[in-house]
Amino acid sequence: MKKETIEKNMPISFDLSGEVSRNIRNRRSIYAKDFIKKDLPDKLLEEILVNATRAPTHKMTEPWRFIVLRGKYLEAYGEYMAAYYKDHYTEKFPPETAEKKLSDLRNYPLNAACLIGVVLVRNRKSGLPEWEEIAAVSSAVQNMALTCTANRIGSYWSTKSVAIDYIEEFGLAENETSLGLLYLGYYSDALPLPEKRRSPLSEKVIYLQ
Ligand SMILES: Cc1cc2nc3c(=O)[nH]c(=O)nc-3n(C[C@H](O)[C@H](O)[C@H](O)COP(=O)(O)O)c2cc1C
Repeated sequence: MKKETIEKNMPISFDLSGEVSRNIRNRRSIYAKDFIKKDLPDKLLEEILVNATRAPTHKMTEPWRFIVLRGKYLEAYGEYMAAYYKDHYTEKFPPETAEKKLSDLRNYPLNAACLIGVVLVRNRKSGLPEWEEIAAVSSAVQNMALTCTANRIGSYWSTKSVAIDYIEEFGLAENETSLGLLYLGYYSDALPLPEKRRSPLSEKVIYLQ
Protein backbone atom coordinates (compact mmCIF):
# COMPACT_ATOMS: atom_id res chain seq x y z
CA MET A 1 0.00 0.00 0.00
CA LYS A 2 1.61 3.25 -1.25
CA LYS A 3 4.98 1.99 -0.11
CA GLU A 4 6.85 4.18 -2.62
CA THR A 5 5.31 7.35 -1.19
CA ILE A 6 6.17 6.43 2.36
CA GLU A 7 9.70 5.38 1.50
CA LYS A 8 10.35 8.65 -0.31
CA ASN A 9 9.74 10.37 2.99
CA MET A 10 12.10 8.13 4.89
CA PRO A 11 13.23 4.60 4.06
CA ILE A 12 12.06 1.86 6.37
CA SER A 13 15.36 0.15 6.88
CA PHE A 14 15.07 -2.09 9.91
CA ASP A 15 13.14 -5.19 9.13
CA LEU A 16 12.65 -6.14 12.75
CA SER A 17 10.39 -3.16 13.31
CA GLY A 18 9.16 -3.07 9.72
CA GLU A 19 5.56 -3.94 10.44
CA VAL A 20 5.21 -1.39 13.21
CA SER A 21 6.96 1.34 11.22
CA ARG A 22 4.96 0.63 8.10
CA ASN A 23 1.74 0.85 10.07
CA ILE A 24 2.75 4.09 11.76
CA ARG A 25 3.87 5.68 8.50
CA ASN A 26 0.89 4.50 6.49
CA ARG A 27 -1.58 5.95 8.96
CA ARG A 28 -3.35 8.98 7.58
CA SER A 29 -6.27 11.04 8.65
CA ILE A 30 -8.92 9.86 6.21
CA TYR A 31 -11.96 12.13 6.14
CA ALA A 32 -15.58 11.06 6.08
CA LYS A 33 -16.14 12.44 2.57
CA ASP A 34 -13.92 9.56 1.40
CA PHE A 35 -15.66 6.81 3.38
CA ILE A 36 -17.59 4.07 1.65
CA LYS A 37 -20.40 2.29 3.42
CA LYS A 38 -19.34 -1.04 4.85
CA ASP A 39 -20.09 -2.72 8.15
CA LEU A 40 -17.42 -2.85 10.79
CA PRO A 41 -17.56 -6.31 12.42
CA ASP A 42 -18.24 -6.16 16.17
CA LYS A 43 -15.12 -8.24 16.88
CA LEU A 44 -12.93 -5.72 15.08
CA LEU A 45 -14.58 -2.80 16.85
CA GLU A 46 -13.87 -4.55 20.13
CA GLU A 47 -10.24 -5.07 19.10
CA ILE A 48 -9.92 -1.35 18.35
CA LEU A 49 -11.39 -0.45 21.74
CA VAL A 50 -9.29 -2.98 23.65
CA ASN A 51 -6.18 -1.55 22.00
CA ALA A 52 -7.27 1.93 23.10
CA THR A 53 -7.29 0.75 26.69
CA ARG A 54 -3.75 -0.63 26.32
CA ALA A 55 -2.37 2.91 26.12
CA PRO A 56 0.16 3.90 28.77
CA THR A 57 -1.45 5.54 31.79
CA HIS A 58 0.46 7.18 34.65
CA LYS A 59 -0.59 5.72 38.02
CA MET A 60 -2.96 3.46 36.07
CA THR A 61 -5.70 6.07 36.20
CA GLU A 62 -7.07 4.96 32.78
CA PRO A 63 -8.47 8.46 32.27
CA TRP A 64 -10.73 7.67 29.32
CA ARG A 65 -14.22 6.66 28.37
CA PHE A 66 -15.56 6.07 24.87
CA ILE A 67 -19.03 6.48 23.42
CA VAL A 68 -19.55 4.39 20.28
CA LEU A 69 -22.11 5.91 17.93
CA ARG A 70 -23.56 3.84 15.12
CA GLY A 71 -26.76 3.44 13.11
CA LYS A 72 -29.26 6.20 13.77
CA TYR A 73 -26.66 8.19 15.71
CA LEU A 74 -24.80 8.89 12.45
CA GLU A 75 -27.94 10.54 11.12
CA ALA A 76 -28.48 12.30 14.44
CA TYR A 77 -24.96 13.75 14.31
CA GLY A 78 -25.49 14.94 10.72
CA GLU A 79 -28.68 16.72 11.84
CA TYR A 80 -26.87 18.14 14.85
CA MET A 81 -24.05 19.51 12.66
CA ALA A 82 -26.53 21.12 10.25
CA ALA A 83 -28.46 22.75 13.12
CA TYR A 84 -25.22 23.80 14.83
CA TYR A 85 -23.88 25.48 11.71
CA LYS A 86 -27.20 27.16 11.10
CA ASP A 87 -27.06 28.61 14.63
CA HIS A 88 -23.40 29.56 14.69
CA TYR A 89 -22.17 30.16 11.17
CA THR A 90 -25.08 31.03 8.89
CA GLU A 91 -23.69 34.49 8.20
CA LYS A 92 -20.51 32.86 6.84
CA PHE A 93 -22.34 31.19 3.96
CA PRO A 94 -23.74 33.16 1.07
CA PRO A 95 -27.50 32.38 1.09
CA GLU A 96 -27.29 30.66 -2.32
CA THR A 97 -24.88 28.03 -0.96
CA ALA A 98 -26.43 27.62 2.50
CA GLU A 99 -28.86 24.85 1.55
CA LYS A 100 -26.12 22.78 -0.07
CA LYS A 101 -23.81 23.31 2.90
CA LEU A 102 -26.51 22.14 5.31
CA SER A 103 -27.31 19.12 3.20
CA ASP A 104 -23.57 18.25 2.96
CA LEU A 105 -23.32 18.44 6.74
CA ARG A 106 -26.36 16.19 7.22
CA ASN A 107 -24.86 13.60 4.89
CA TYR A 108 -21.24 13.90 6.00
CA PRO A 109 -21.19 11.22 8.75
CA LEU A 110 -23.54 8.74 7.06
CA ASN A 111 -20.87 6.52 5.50
CA ALA A 112 -18.82 6.24 8.68
CA ALA A 113 -18.58 2.75 10.15
CA CYS A 114 -18.94 4.43 13.53
CA LEU A 115 -17.97 7.49 15.52
CA ILE A 116 -16.18 7.09 18.81
CA GLY A 117 -16.73 9.89 21.31
CA VAL A 118 -13.57 10.49 23.33
CA VAL A 119 -14.02 11.51 26.95
CA LEU A 120 -11.28 12.54 29.34
CA VAL A 121 -12.09 11.25 32.82
CA ARG A 122 -10.02 13.11 35.41
CA ASN A 123 -8.95 11.26 38.50
CA ARG A 124 -8.46 14.15 40.89
CA LYS A 125 -7.23 11.99 43.78
CA SER A 126 -4.24 10.93 41.67
CA GLY A 127 -2.79 14.44 41.81
CA LEU A 128 -1.73 14.10 38.18
CA PRO A 129 -1.68 17.26 36.10
CA GLU A 130 -4.35 17.38 33.41
CA TRP A 131 -1.80 17.28 30.61
CA GLU A 132 -0.65 13.82 31.68
CA GLU A 133 -4.18 12.50 31.51
CA ILE A 134 -4.78 14.12 28.12
CA ALA A 135 -1.49 12.58 26.96
CA ALA A 136 -2.77 9.14 28.01
CA VAL A 137 -6.09 9.65 26.19
CA SER A 138 -4.21 10.82 23.09
CA SER A 139 -2.16 7.62 23.20
CA ALA A 140 -5.40 5.65 23.38
CA VAL A 141 -6.71 7.49 20.32
CA GLN A 142 -3.47 6.78 18.45
CA ASN A 143 -3.76 3.07 19.34
CA MET A 144 -7.23 3.07 17.80
CA ALA A 145 -6.00 4.88 14.68
CA LEU A 146 -3.12 2.45 14.22
CA THR A 147 -5.38 -0.55 14.69
CA CYS A 148 -7.61 0.95 12.01
CA THR A 149 -4.66 1.40 9.65
CA ALA A 150 -3.62 -2.22 10.16
CA ASN A 151 -7.14 -3.25 9.14
CA ARG A 152 -7.42 -0.84 6.18
CA ILE A 153 -9.95 1.32 7.97
CA GLY A 154 -9.65 5.10 7.74
CA SER A 155 -9.95 7.30 10.78
CA TYR A 156 -9.54 10.85 11.95
CA TRP A 157 -9.91 12.72 15.18
CA SER A 158 -12.36 15.61 14.97
CA THR A 159 -11.98 18.21 17.69
CA LYS A 160 -13.93 21.07 16.22
CA SER A 161 -16.44 22.68 18.54
CA VAL A 162 -19.43 20.87 17.04
CA ALA A 163 -17.80 17.50 17.79
CA ILE A 164 -16.82 18.53 21.31
CA ASP A 165 -20.32 19.84 22.02
CA TYR A 166 -22.10 16.81 20.54
CA ILE A 167 -20.26 14.40 22.82
CA GLU A 168 -21.14 16.63 25.78
CA GLU A 169 -24.80 15.97 24.95
CA PHE A 170 -24.38 12.44 26.27
CA GLY A 171 -24.25 13.60 29.87
CA LEU A 172 -20.70 14.00 31.14
CA ALA A 173 -19.89 13.94 34.84
CA GLU A 174 -18.26 16.90 36.59
CA ASN A 175 -14.79 15.30 36.25
CA GLU A 176 -15.23 14.54 32.54
CA THR A 177 -14.35 16.58 29.45
CA SER A 178 -15.29 15.93 25.85
CA LEU A 179 -12.28 15.60 23.56
CA GLY A 180 -14.34 15.29 20.40
CA LEU A 181 -14.75 12.16 18.35
CA LEU A 182 -12.87 9.73 16.18
CA TYR A 183 -14.41 8.98 12.80
CA LEU A 184 -13.91 5.42 11.54
CA GLY A 185 -14.75 4.28 8.03
CA TYR A 186 -13.73 2.12 5.12
CA TYR A 187 -12.35 3.77 1.97
CA SER A 188 -11.71 2.75 -1.61
CA ASP A 189 -8.44 1.02 -2.51
CA ALA A 190 -8.17 3.63 -5.26
CA LEU A 191 -8.10 6.54 -2.79
CA PRO A 192 -4.71 8.26 -3.07
CA LEU A 193 -3.34 8.70 0.42
CA PRO A 194 -2.19 12.26 1.08
CA GLU A 195 1.55 12.48 1.49
CA LYS A 196 1.53 14.74 4.59
CA ARG A 197 5.27 15.22 4.71
CA ARG A 198 6.98 15.81 8.02
CA SER A 199 9.90 18.11 8.77
CA PRO A 200 13.33 16.50 8.64
CA LEU A 201 14.62 15.04 11.89
CA SER A 202 17.42 17.59 11.88
CA GLU A 203 14.82 20.27 12.69
CA LYS A 204 13.20 18.26 15.45
CA VAL A 205 15.90 16.29 17.24
CA ILE A 206 19.16 17.07 18.92
CA TYR A 207 21.53 14.31 19.95
CA LEU A 208 23.64 14.78 23.07
CA GLN A 209 26.30 12.27 23.92
C1 LIG B 1 -5.56 16.35 18.68
C2 LIG B 1 -5.89 16.37 17.20
C3 LIG B 1 -7.02 17.01 16.78
C4 LIG B 1 -7.37 17.03 15.42
N1 LIG B 1 -8.53 17.67 15.05
C5 LIG B 1 -8.86 17.73 13.75
C6 LIG B 1 -10.05 18.37 13.34
O1 LIG B 1 -10.82 18.87 14.16
N2 LIG B 1 -10.35 18.42 12.03
C7 LIG B 1 -9.51 17.86 11.10
O2 LIG B 1 -9.80 17.95 9.91
N3 LIG B 1 -8.39 17.20 11.45
C8 LIG B 1 -8.04 17.11 12.75
N4 LIG B 1 -6.92 16.44 13.14
C9 LIG B 1 -6.13 15.72 12.13
C10 LIG B 1 -4.93 16.52 11.65
O3 LIG B 1 -5.38 17.54 10.77
C11 LIG B 1 -3.98 15.55 10.93
O4 LIG B 1 -3.49 14.63 11.89
C12 LIG B 1 -2.80 16.29 10.28
O5 LIG B 1 -3.22 17.01 9.16
C13 LIG B 1 -1.71 15.29 9.83
O6 LIG B 1 -2.24 14.38 8.89
P1 LIG B 1 -2.19 12.80 9.13
O7 LIG B 1 -3.01 12.50 10.37
O8 LIG B 1 -2.80 12.21 7.89
O9 LIG B 1 -0.76 12.41 9.32
C14 LIG B 1 -6.55 16.39 14.47
C15 LIG B 1 -5.38 15.74 14.92
C16 LIG B 1 -5.06 15.72 16.26
C17 LIG B 1 -3.83 15.01 16.72
